[in-house]
Amino acid sequence: MLDERQIQEIVDKTDIVGLVSEFVTLSKRGKNYFGLCPFHDDSNPSFSVSPEKKIAKCITCGEGGNPINFLRKIRNISFEEACSQLAERVGIKIESTNHVKKVDVNQKYYEINETAQKFYQHFLYNSQSGKEALAYLNKRGLSLETLKMFGVGLAPKEYDTLYKMLKDKGYSDIDIEDVGLAKNSANGYYDMFNNRIMFPIIDDNNHVLGFSGRIYYASDTEPKYVNTAETVVYKKGETLYNLNNAIAGIRKTGTVILCEGQMDVIACTNAGIKNVICSLGTALTKEQVKLIGKYAKNVIIAYDGDNAGIKATRKAFDLLEGFKATSVTLPNGQDPDEYIKQNGADGFKNYVVNHQKDMVEFVYDNAFRNRDLSINYDYEAVKTDVFTFLRTLKSTTLVEKYLNRLSNDLKISYEAIFNDYNLYSTRGHQSYPVEMPEDDIKISKNILAHEKMFLAFIIYSKDYFDYYQHELENIEEYLDHPLTVQIYMVVSYFYQCGEMDQAKLIRYCYQEIKNDIINELLTLMMQITNLSNDKIWQMIGDSITRFMTLKYRNERKEFVVNSINATDDVIATMEEKLAFVRKNIKNQRK
Ligand code: CTP
Ligand code: MN
Repeated sequence: MLDERQIQEIVDKTDIVGLVSEFVTLSKRGKNYFGLCPFHDDSNPSFSVSPEKKIAKCITCGEGGNPINFLRKIRNISFEEACSQLAERVGIKIESTNHVKKVDVNQKYYEINETAQKFYQHFLYNSQSGKEALAYLNKRGLSLETLKMFGVGLAPKEYDTLYKMLKDKGYSDIDIEDVGLAKNSANGYYDMFNNRIMFPIIDDNNHVLGFSGRIYYASDTEPKYVNTAETVVYKKGETLYNLNNAIAGIRKTGTVILCEGQMDVIACTNAGIKNVICSLGTALTKEQVKLIGKYAKNVIIAYDGDNAGIKATRKAFDLLEGFKATSVTLPNGQDPDEYIKQNGADGFKNYVVNHQKDMVEFVYDNAFRNRDLSINYDYEAVKTDVFTFLRTLKSTTLVEKYLNRLSNDLKISYEAIFNDYNLYSTRGHQSYPVEMPEDDIKISKNILAHEKMFLAFIIYSKDYFDYYQHELENIEEYLDHPLTVQIYMVVSYFYQCGEMDQAKLIRYCYQEIKNDIINELLTLMMQITNLSNDKIWQMIGDSITRFMTLKYRNERKEFVVNSINATDDVIATMEEKLAFVRKNIKNQRK
């Protein structure tokens, strides 16, 4: 434990102006410094810092105090934690509590990362490729001040420059590898990051945990971002990008704006919006939500306005239970960075103010997204989505409110909606037109690889679907697994209805096939995106050969639904659909 003397020493040695400056922009007036108070919504600088008295306090709201108290309040940490953080800053060794021990253990890793960060930063401003990289950053509208604030740097093109530099400084191979900056190979150590713009990932205690590196030239082969993998100090699920810089902005507004990517965070900050953070290349986690809770109770989710962003928003809402959470969906699938570029900071601020939705509004509105009410399955899907969500609500009043709205929006009587809702609630939802029997969930593992590939391709594009149709007459007879048959049916039905939108098809598959296989297919589709045209056609050709070879291992006279344990209703519907599909294929061929 700390004694009075040590506490006094910490206070005495702390440069209070430097400390406060990390959170508040200060300007000197007489002996003291003034800035906007980080603890209340201040418009006239009323936060005063006296280096002489070692006091940082707001003359309006009274919040603040000596360096320890200031840090406690602004970081929402214990007295002890504040002391140990300040002690670390001024180089005082204090009796180690558990917390302090942990910090000590990781200290050398932070140091390596920090050394790398400084090196990258120096390289950005002092090299030929740095000129190109700066031109790129400049084109993205980032000011020098912003780049400095985020500690942006550049990794050299050569394969081991950083490694050599770190070795020269005396760091060991194993430590350099442990923080994820270099890797060993038969030819020796090589850097993990080459020729990328480097964004240090810094925690709320200003430790450099890792990096995110972005390419700054067009490339079809290189991934856009490479991030430090999980290391001794970087746990991506527990880290929030820019929390260090955003603390003051968050404290001031009581609100966190949560984005998807670091470029959004940087663009917002660059435009003067200072309470913005993101999780890096990962969906929001419980741990991150806990971390947010240390600083704010209000969260605005501002994920990309594309399908992935909307899905992620829904998940984030679920995780943010207990917060006052709203979301803002930007138009045209834009992300905050793109929106700001087009509409300016004020445009973005206005949009955020005017388009916030709470979870109920968000879910309700999204039930209609990309859906065409003149198509029956879309019409039903809207109801299902809304019902599923309403069932989780505790308020009868809200349920009625939204059933009413649904009746308006679907242009059908309240009674009919109410009836359907009750049916839905008691029986569970009978999906239209096909539902996957529970039993099949277990067997999806046995689907043959070429069948999975086939499914991924036909969902990926109608062109591939048509090609398979063309090459394999009566495809169903080639399909081995009942799930494959079902998914094929769903996809055929979709295209037969004249639908083309791939995102819609994926959603439709999710809705119709209650099985993890769809996730697996999505992963395959993602891989397809990266393949060359030649490779794709080669794979399609291979799978067709495979289908042909395996055809009629058993005689499959007709489309055998019986093997999947479905109810008579389901079989009937499927056979109806099959007939429909066949008829249309025949018509098309004519
Ligand atoms: N990401 C990643 N690896 C990728 C692509 C993305 O780790 N190959 C992470 C990055 O942290 C990125 C976030 O996911 O910031 C969101 O991705 P995306 O929306 O594609 O990137 P943007 O933030 O829009 O980046 P930019 O504007 O530079 O394209
Ligand atoms: Mn972007």
